[in-house]
Amino acid sequence: MLKVGLIGCGFMGTMHANCYKNLKGVTLAAVADVRKDKAEELAKGTDAVVYGDGKELINDAEVDVIDICLPTYLHAEYALAAMEKVKYLFVEKPVALTEEEGEKMLAKSKACGCEVQVGQVIRFWDEYVALKEIVESEKYGKVVNANFRRLSPRPEWGWENWLLDFSRSGGAGQDLHIHDIDYALSLFGEPKNFYSVKNSRGEKNSYVNTLLQYEDFVVSVEGTWDLPASHPFEATFRVVFENAVVENAGGKFTLYTSEGASEIKLEKLELQGGYKGGNVSDLGGYYNELLYFTQRAKNGEKIARATLGDGVSSLKFLMKELNF
Ligand SMILES: NC(=O)c1ccc[n+]([C@@H]2O[C@H](COP(=O)([O-])OP(=O)(O)OC[C@H]3O[C@@H](n4cnc5c(N)ncnc54)[C@H](O)[C@@H]3O)[C@@H](O)[C@H]2O)c1
Repeated sequence: MLKVGLIGCGFMGTMHANCYKNLKGVTLAAVADVRKDKAEELAKGTDAVVYGDGKELINDAEVDVIDICLPTYLHAEYALAAMEKVKYLFVEKPVALTEEEGEKMLAKSKACGCEVQVGQVIRFWDEYVALKEIVESEKYGKVVNANFRRLSPRPEWGWENWLLDFSRSGGAGQDLHIHDIDYALSLFGEPKNFYSVKNSRGEKNSYVNTLLQYEDFVVSVEGTWDLPASHPFEATFRVVFENAVVENAGGKFTLYTSEGASEIKLEKLELQGGYKGGNVSDLGGYYNELLYFTQRAKNGEKIARATLGDGVSSLKFLMKELNF
């Protein structure tokens, strides 16, 4: 059994706990949250030992891997401590608040021999995984242009409202838009040039739109949490190829060609465990990324997807965009 220690039992920690409860050969062995009731809630039905501050877990818990779902400004401090304890570490995105913190994490992971995966979950989301295969196969020709959007109501659920505090989260640019920038970079590499605009409603950078100029195609990446609570969360893309258009919008994944439109059917991973709590149908990419992480840890293999290096590179690109 792979013993997992989970630090931070808020919105994302709960999602991760539900995933671990659905993975075979994995057990939630320790959970930590300064709001102990949150940790106790996730420990229900498991043998997990409950801690308060994440450092208590890092110092005392018997675990093989650690997963950090803390507010972004705490990632580096806890990740650096965790790297001295375990050989496999998962850190939510964005990897850190600053580039300097990211660099420190990279240096420490090398010094400790700790394999680190970053929660750039889009790289594991079925439609986005399928799109990468389509792009790389060139079965519909080369990309002509592409558009990625992530639109959300303001995230008001955070502990101490940290998400809406720019100094602790980096705003929508760093928290939300980084998903699609990281994915675009993973798909197309660094652009030849880029132009970024941003706007601030409430806190800084609540809207970001960046145009990436490549040799012979362009990509636009838009992210905001300026929408009212009544608007549904929206994560969409449309990629125009020489011979087709692939679109993921309105809950539909569609291929458009000169012959007509058809749904692209995806094979979804079967959930391994029998856990029925939480909304298991929504686990999506979170389940896929943690299945990958735990399998790599069990087999003693290197993390090769959404690596710490990937997370730091995307953060560095994002900093260039936001300071434009
Ligand atoms: N991958 C995604 O799609 C996605 C989505 C949402 C959030 N996130 C990321 O996940 C991370 C957590 O975000 P969230 O939405 O879950 O926030 P949250 O506020 O809901 O949860 C954070 C938890 O950390 C706890 N905490 C704070 N300090 C602590 C400490 N020192 N020790 C132990 N617990 C402590 C808080 O009590 C809270 O329960 C952030 O980095 C965020 O950007 C990722």
